[in-house]
Amino acid sequence: MPARILDGTLIRDQIYAELAQEIAALRSSGIRPGLAAVLVGNDPASQIYVRSKIAACQQLGLGNIHLTPSANTTTAELLAIVRELNARDDVDGILVQLPLPPQIDAKIILEAVDPAKDVDGFHPMNIGKLVEGRPNLVACTPLGVMEILRRSGIPIESANAVVVGRSNIVGKPMALLLMQANATVAVCHSKTRDPRKFTREADILVAATGRPALIVPDDVKPGATVIDVGVTRITDPQQAEKIFAHSPERLEKFRKNGSAVAGDVHPDVAQVAGALTPVPGGVGPLTIAMLMSNTVKAARLRRGLRAESAASPR
Ligand code: GUN
Repeated sequence: MPARILDGTLIRDQIYAELAQEIAALRSSGIRPGLAAVLVGNDPASQIYVRSKIAACQQLGLGNIHLTPSANTTTAELLAIVRELNARDDVDGILVQLPLPPQIDAKIILEAVDPAKDVDGFHPMNIGKLVEGRPNLVACTPLGVMEILRRSGIPIESANAVVVGRSNIVGKPMALLLMQANATVAVCHSKTRDPRKFTREADILVAATGRPALIVPDDVKPGATVIDVGVTRITDPQQAEKIFAHSPERLEKFRKNGSAVAGDVHPDVAQVAGALTPVPGGVGPLTIAMLMSNTVKAARLRRGLRAESAASPR
């Protein structure tokens, strides 16, 4: 039996409905949470992401500021922008879209964001809190994965969870959140000897490498829950033939468009897994939903209000 498909857009809509209520309640007491997004330069993928984030704010009635300094902005200039946003009372969340151009010292910029406004969860203070087991603002993509698991009724406690990929943005915080939820966690990466030995033991397998179709059916324990965080645009017809060999509709679409988005998980894994997030339409929609949730959470926390709500989890 093919895997149950965990529909991220449905879960996102659920979260938006809850957030809309929460935002309405805040606004009736005179609080309008606001997000500032800073996009340096003209990277087309980043432009799409940031536009979607701003559109989500507008849809939910959150304050939004979209700053687009030029590609040759210096570290000092960007630092001045971040400090100004830190000081603004109408800004609850600050997001500096990554990657930054090479002349900018990203570490200095991320450390300059007020940890109370760090809705990306990238500040070392917030990462430290997550490590300590008292998470505050946590990176949106791994938070979105936890929401998919929880809202789909996938048991996490005592599960064997394997995270493939060890990035600061996804792999590391993902492993920490799963550990916090009482899973037994292993992290595999490019230097892991025999990764299959680990992945085949996983009840929950999270793939976050950016390598299209890296995870194949033989890597997966029958019945496992597989979460695909990868989003890579592929343009090589040979690669597309391999990945979409048993997905005629997607191959057709690739031929028509000359490109397609592929996850880290080969589509054939659907024949082995118990549950699987699709790409697109799985984890992606949750990332923006959790950014909205973090912005509302930051707005509450900054005003000394209770942090937890249905839509803004720990
Ligand atoms: N680039 C890729 N993912 C992210 C993200 O979650 N936040 C920011 N700011 N930049 C990104």
